[in-house]
Amino acid sequence: MVEVRPLTPSIGAEIIGADIRQEADFEIVRQAFTDHSVIAIRDQELTPDDQIEFAERFGPINVNRFFKKHDTHPKVALVLKEADQSKAIGEQWHTDHSYDDEPAMCSILHAIETPPVGGDTVFASMSAAYEALSDKFAEMIDGLNAWHSSRHVFGAAAADSENSKTGRIENPALAKQDALHPVVITHPLSGRKGIYVNPEFTTRIDGWTEAESASVLRFLYEHCAKPDFHCRVSYRPGTVTMWDNRATWHKAINDYAGHRRLMHRITVEGCSLNR
Ligand code: SIN
Repeated sequence: MVEVRPLTPSIGAEIIGADIRQEADFEIVRQAFTDHSVIAIRDQELTPDDQIEFAERFGPINVNRFFKKHDTHPKVALVLKEADQSKAIGEQWHTDHSYDDEPAMCSILHAIETPPVGGDTVFASMSAAYEALSDKFAEMIDGLNAWHSSRHVFGAAAADSENSKTGRIENPALAKQDALHPVVITHPLSGRKGIYVNPEFTTRIDGWTEAESASVLRFLYEHCAKPDFHCRVSYRPGTVTMWDNRATWHKAINDYAGHRRLMHRITVEGCSLNR
């Protein structure tokens, strides 16, 4: 019997008793993903081929240009931190692939090796954050667009980072994406409005001065970082966490010094975003 347990009223659910290799469990998993934006499916026994097959039920796989790839399954990206490394991948709040014209729909993270404690991911609901704004402020940002870029995160400027030097992030020459998206989008599945800017990849609000843009983005980032809009997923090997990049932010908590953490990640193609 498959059980879906919400983690908070606004975001996240844990799924117990499912086997995502089984067709029979797919519909309940898909519905939970639509309803909760983040799902942590416990106790899966998956090969990389199983994870690829599950991801492809949602759409074509978007092979990440920058993450180190699995040796035999290049559609699977490695999210790795060795015991002697200090930086984790994805420590800052972000939305995967917001620098693409058609940002990834979802990311699917399969926990392979986890620290004894720590190494959680925190998620934020962008629709809950939007709905908590005053009507007048929401009206003001509703008409805006913002630029997003991969250049400052994955390009030459990042060559000195530990993630690049250890080969966990690669291909700086491919970091050429700049994309313009509405600051507030209507979610393609749920129809809910949500904030679509993030501290990692958003560079500025289109048509505003640097100071105007920085000031409003800072306010939005502080607002979305309130724990009221968050859920937190902890892992054990076999947990598969899937999140909707059009509805959430996430950040990896780097609190497990001295331990190895290895995740297999797949991102699924999305669509262009509209207000
Ligand atoms: C990511 O940012 O895609 C990875 C998140 C995590 O490792 O917790």
